[in-house]
Amino acid sequence: MVLHKGKPSSETRRGGTNPLYTGANPALAAELTLPHDSLMDNPLPPDTALQLVRDELMLDGNAKLNLATFVTTYMEPQARELMADCVDKNMIDKDEYPQTAELERRCVNILADLWNAPEPTDIIGCSTTGSSEACMLAGMAFKRRWSKLGRSGKPNLVMGANVQVCWEKFCEYWEVEPRLVPMDGDQFHLTAEGAISRCDENTIGVVAILGSTFDGSYEPVAEIAAALDQLQTERGWDIPVHVDGASGAMIAPFLDSDLEWDFRLPRVASINTSGHKYGLVYPGVGWVVWRNKAALPAELVFNVNYLGGDMPTFALNFSRPGAEVAAQYYTFVRLGREGFRAVQQASRDVATELADRIGELGPFRLLTRGDELPVFAFTTKPEVTAYDVFDISRRLRERGWLVPAYTFPENRTDLAVLRIVVRNGFTHDLADLLLGDLSRILPELAAQPAPSHDPALSTAFHH
Ligand SMILES: Cc1ncc(COP(=O)(O)O)c(C=O)c1O
Repeated sequence: MVLHKGKPSSETRRGGTNPLYTGANPALAAELTLPHDSLMDNPLPPDTALQLVRDELMLDGNAKLNLATFVTTYMEPQARELMADCVDKNMIDKDEYPQTAELERRCVNILADLWNAPEPTDIIGCSTTGSSEACMLAGMAFKRRWSKLGRSGKPNLVMGANVQVCWEKFCEYWEVEPRLVPMDGDQFHLTAEGAISRCDENTIGVVAILGSTFDGSYEPVAEIAAALDQLQTERGWDIPVHVDGASGAMIAPFLDSDLEWDFRLPRVASINTSGHKYGLVYPGVGWVVWRNKAALPAELVFNVNYLGGDMPTFALNFSRPGAEVAAQYYTFVRLGREGFRAVQQASRDVATELADRIGELGPFRLLTRGDELPVFAFTTKPEVTAYDVFDISRRLRERGWLVPAYTFPENRTDLAVLRIVVRNGFTHDLADLLLGDLSRILPELAAQPAPSHDPALSTAFHH
């Protein structure tokens, strides 16, 4: 059984005898049934297979109207062409595809430079399938570094309750105690004070997020680092920081260059980002960079003698497509610093304007304004009793907009919000259309006697 329940298999049904369905071989139509649980006995012509699978996939949401995801939904035709050129290359065969390996190396160096690595020749980094794998690797480096200190007790990792689920997974999979600092009133992310209050000699590290998945806000990395410096002076514990820059590590270098959150802070040991979020590449590619070799215990890097070459790897998976790495390099070549700045600024402009206009509609309270990540969260004002954020999400879906509604974690589970992620390709025009649809449904919702959503849907959301 697959992990997700999905729909139960429907009974096997004949496809009928429509000759248009099967192109050159109408007789095949009589035999046609799509496999749900076991392979069909015979092959289908490629065009038929393509049409049938494509038809089913039409039931998926429209990626461009998906305001839930951080993941890239638009790349230029040239990037698609390049990716198509590379689909048959396995990223891991570095000896066979040395130029793909070289592009990966250049991307790591470019990221280290963007993140102000003080000693560019000392950095070490790699591509991954996404930020989740990158975070696992960073967490593993923390844990191994801590275990070498010879302390007794269970290792713990300090982070805000707003962390993305990958950090909870890391703790569960690698048997590390998660020390989640709860939200407090209108404080929706980790603070320096909250972080150090949870640290002890078995803290393997502190995770600071740029920016929070829940509301797009940046955590105060510099303040957290300074508080940990102070803690080291007082208690002698040298606790490193990992910055989970899944989204923000590709925004802040271009739009907030004065903000110190990266390797300029000596306490920042490692940083990850998702190439497939604001790195502007289709899924799945992520990156992780360590400040220097001391931050990544050498024994975690495997030197594999494979297909005739000696290959250093630090990864959870082995084989992986090379196309995303080539596409990442393409975006770097194509945009340069100024191009990235312009693309990210356009997203921020749309996000801040849309947030302001939603705030002006009346029934909503903005939690964030899209001026850090181009992402904002808002909720209904207390006087709005006829409907709630879940009603709004459901009604927007009728027009194709995917705007998630979810409750906040422990301590603020009473707070339910809508979140809009503005990405490259979400224009002022589309924002106008969304606002128009939102304005149209509000009077209808206001006429309801009470919120009509299914409470079972109001769960926390991890995206
Ligand atoms: C802060 C943060 N960390 C990690 C992740 C996981 O990233 P990925 O989907 O690239 O594995 C996300 C995804 O939204 C995120 O927002």
